[in-house]
Amino acid sequence: MRLAGKVALVTGGSLGIGQAVALLYAREGAKVAICGRGRQALEETVRQIAAEGGTASAFEANVSDKAQVDRMIAGVQEQWGTIDILVNNAGICDPAPFLAITEEQWDRHMDINVKGTFLVSQGVARFMVERGVRGSIIHMSSVNGLAAEADQVHYNATKSAMINMGMSMALELAPLGIRVNSLCPGFIETRLTKPAIDGPHIGSILSSIPMARVGQPDEIASGAVFLASDESRYMTGQTLVIDGGQLIKLA
Ligand SMILES: NC(=O)c1ccc[n+]([C@@H]2O[C@H](COP(=O)([O-])OP(=O)(O)OC[C@H]3O[C@@H](n4cnc5c(N)ncnc54)[C@H](O)[C@@H]3O)[C@@H](O)[C@H]2O)c1
Repeated sequence: MRLAGKVALVTGGSLGIGQAVALLYAREGAKVAICGRGRQALEETVRQIAAEGGTASAFEANVSDKAQVDRMIAGVQEQWGTIDILVNNAGICDPAPFLAITEEQWDRHMDINVKGTFLVSQGVARFMVERGVRGSIIHMSSVNGLAAEADQVHYNATKSAMINMGMSMALELAPLGIRVNSLCPGFIETRLTKPAIDGPHIGSILSSIPMARVGQPDEIASGAVFLASDESRYMTGQTLVIDGGQLIKLA
């Protein structure tokens, strides 16, 4: 087991990619704290992990609210004494044409995807430094942080911001023994992409992916295990793309 004895916090761990990460981390021996919105989905994931013989705990918290983030981090420490791995996975994507994006939509994306990543990272990194934990922090960015897509200006801006935040954090935290990397999934089958998968443009989406299929959450989770484990111990400030080849295709 590659994460035996570790404690991981996965934000947005109740659904989709975050849930797959939480499940795989638990199978690899980590104790997993998950946070998200909506108690029912959180508890269902904790039950699933326990049913497989793993250990998990749920924290209902909004990552863009500092008081809730601080309570969550204190709760994980109280329960398990440490945090070795953080996955900043909680995120939203609410597509709209650039000319129609409202200030409220812009702020919500920035608050959850960017400020949320900052707040949780800073709280966890401060704890790691205080306790001398040689930890790993992973930002769940996106191929949309590296290339453009119409109707996603606000979302894309947040995903690019997460990548640079990761590099800049890596620079300051490397001397303190903490690694920070970003993971960029392509088009993955979750609640977020369901409207597009069921929509009229799925054919053109698939033709943009050399592997010609939608990715599955567990295919991203295996990358998150690599970045959390000792296998990536000499790697920091990097971006790992898992996208079926989508980004390499010019036409
Ligand atoms: N699905 C994809 O194709 C895809 C591709 C690239 C990147 N991503 C990124 O992966 C991450 C997960 O995406 P998904 O498709 O699994 O989404 P999802 O909607 O299935 O799950 C999102 C999770 O985030 C949580 N969440 C949302 N807002 C929150 C908040 N304010 N505070 C705490 N938790 C919150 C939800 O409760 C849920 O657990 C996102 O950051 C997304 O941008 C997804």
